[in-house]
Amino acid sequence: MLIDEIRAARRSAGWSQATLAQRVGVESQAIKRLEKSVGAVSTLTAVMTALDFRLSGLGPGKTLHDQLRACRQKRSLSLDALAAKTGLSRTTIASLERGGGSVASLLRLMAVLAPNVSRRARERTYWGEGDREDRDARFTPPEFLAPIHAAFGAIDLDPCGHTLSPVVARRRILRSEGGDGLAEDWTGRLAFVNPPFSELLVWLRRAHDQWRCGNVETVVCLAPVRTDSALFHETLSVDADIFLLRGRVRFLDLHGKRQGTPFSLMLVTLGAAEIQRSRYAELVAGIWLARRDNATAPGTALTAALDAALPDQDQSPIP
Ligand SMILES: C[S@@+](CC[C@H](N)C(=O)[O-])C[C@H]1O[C@@H](n2cnc3c(N)ncnc32)[C@H](O)[C@@H]1O
Repeated sequence: MLIDEIRAARRSAGWSQATLAQRVGVESQAIKRLEKSVGAVSTLTAVMTALDFRLSGLGPGKTLHDQLRACRQKRSLSLDALAAKTGLSRTTIASLERGGGSVASLLRLMAVLAPNVSRRARERTYWGEGDREDRDARFTPPEFLAPIHAAFGAIDLDPCGHTLSPVVARRRILRSEGGDGLAEDWTGRLAFVNPPFSELLVWLRRAHDQWRCGNVETVVCLAPVRTDSALFHETLSVDADIFLLRGRVRFLDLHGKRQGTPFSLMLVTLGAAEIQRSRYAELVAGIWLARRDNATAPGTALTAALDAALPDQDQSPIP
């Protein structure tokens, strides 16, 4: 089941096995093997991260192995008792609970420990099914771009550009020309990113990586307000300045028609100067959030409880 769902998630993202392999940094062969339930758990977890694929029905925890251990403990099973039930050795189970082991052992363990495990639904902060060819083809309108230019300057890079988009950038990475903003290096001073919302976390993670390694000086990313992820709480709340937009943006579709989002939006900026942020707030209605102090430890007990309590259903879109 787990492997079938992972294959389905890869296909629904429109990624080939080779694309996924490139994103994860492994050989295509490793993905082929994984989709036949063969390989290391470490490859599986890297694939799950790349696909923003999380499980519900296990115990609370930030990683798959933490969730496995929590699930066993919740069921008051010792390592030996679980070993007897699964036919796996105690050492194998202990290794799985540390993030090691093979996919075959993991599946055997999960069949006993959590037979009803399923993919945790993502918050629905993306457009509906939309256009078949490109369901994320909603373009930033010129009136939204004007204050971006005024406050942050000229855009050097649009890593997920489109030939019909009003975004003017020195370099555009175009999928229609074989480009891939998730694989190619980002360059320049300012990257403006209105990412495919259906793969939001993958793009936010990419933006953060490219900014952190110094490929781009500043990133300004227009994104749905989505605050349930570890990425938001552990990384963006510390490194990014976030502007909550008042009102909605009316995007352009492939036919030039306007469409408002059924969810709220925010601007996630990395490396923006104070003067740029104040200028933006003078021009656009909304508020900048205070950044979280790096030293503030997340409340782990409460985090685990909240993680566990996350509903399995998508949130209904705000009317
Ligand atoms: C929301 S649209 C934004 C277009 C443009 N950046 C704008 O702001 O108007 C996102 C676009 O990203 C493109 N896209 C999806 N995956 C991509 C990838 N891996 N590399 C580059 N572009 C991609 C899709 O074609 C889609 O049209």
